[in-house]
Amino acid sequence: MKTERRVIPIKVEARSTLTPQDDAAVRTVINKMQDMPGALLPILHGVQDALGYVPKDAIPVIAQALNLSRAEVHGVVSFYHWYRQEKPGEHVIHLCRAEACQSRGAVALEAHAKAKLGVDFHGTSSDGRYTLEPAYCLGNCALSPAVMIDGELYGRVSPQRFDTLLEKTAEEAAS
Ligand code: FES
Repeated sequence: MKTERRVIPIKVEARSTLTPQDDAAVRTVINKMQDMPGALLPILHGVQDALGYVPKDAIPVIAQALNLSRAEVHGVVSFYHWYRQEKPGEHVIHLCRAEACQSRGAVALEAHAKAKLGVDFHGTSSDGRYTLEPAYCLGNCALSPAVMIDGELYGRVSPQRFDTLLEKTAEEAAS
């Protein structure tokens, strides 16, 4: 009599896409902060500061270190818009969308920036240079509309000035 073989499905864990350097950076942040009370948010900030985003494969490493589920960590990453889940471009541009800026030209500036870069918010230009992010008050309301490029704040940014700032950023990167 022929016996039927049962095939037991094996759950194969996908291999991490983190490079050894990125993996080391994630673990360094975790080691520094995991004993802090409420360590999850500071760790996510630290990872984003180090890598420019929170890679999906960093989530299981963080979850394990903090004894949380992956779903819990992923839930926090996706809840806060500040955390980026995709690798950003070389330069990150934050456009303020809060009230003071909106009343002084931010709407036109936003339309211009999106058309100029060919992206919507959270997108990266096709040449990989610029990622456009929204911000909700950059603390520069008196000089609205405000923009932050790679952490540097600029005020009274017209569409023309926006283009000049992009050129300046490109020149600095080339020099
Ligand atoms: S509202 Fe834009 S900087 Fe405050």
